[in-house]
Amino acid sequence: MAKRGMARHPAPLREILSTVPGITFGAGEAGSQAARVKRNRQLPENTPTLRRLREIVTAALMRNPLFFSAALPHRILPPFFNRYEGGETFGDHVDNAIRRPWRSEVNIRTDVSTTLFFTDPEEYEGGDLVVEDTYGDHTARLPAGDAIVYPSTSLHRVEPVTSGARVCSFLWTQSMIRDDWKRTLLFDLDSRIQRLRAQLGETDDLVGLTSHYHNLLRMWAEV
Ligand code: NI
Repeated sequence: MAKRGMARHPAPLREILSTVPGITFGAGEAGSQAARVKRNRQLPENTPTLRRLREIVTAALMRNPLFFSAALPHRILPPFFNRYEGGETFGDHVDNAIRRPWRSEVNIRTDVSTTLFFTDPEEYEGGDLVVEDTYGDHTARLPAGDAIVYPSTSLHRVEPVTSGARVCSFLWTQSMIRDDWKRTLLFDLDSRIQRLRAQLGETDDLVGLTSHYHNLLRMWAEV
């Protein structure tokens, strides 16, 4: 099931992306199945501002409690930045299970995928992110600054952008909780505890439920 959350301060990122000279979107790389259906462009690794852009996005996600609760991150891969225009699209694919960051020796398992939008839905046509899960298709087309988090196990695609341009960041997280269902259950439990606490304040039962949350996390987490 897909979830969404806010990353604060999208404006400086958008400014860097749109005004810094020398930023060009290249072909990018993908796994062999994905490469056959990938028709978009992404910032190459040698882009001068890429490190700064990555720091801003990663820091914004790490301070977002909703992202933390949904993804339960163990390791976050450096974010990428992509752009779709003029009919560009990314057909149905599943993301590679294991990725190694550029110039790194560490393999990271992709459990959770995140797409962070820099362009508003009114700025382009098409470009829906469609994620398939057991309950059918979920479509995301979010305002600039919003992100969607979904399991990397799901088949997904980006519909053709038929006018304007769609600019996003996307990244993968290795979660402390590998299993999608266990992660979903923990997210649901945590969300309900937070809502109850907002309604009732701290109560003995809420302390007990919070203890169950942490004990499940303790039982299941790989860190
Ligand atoms: Ni993908």
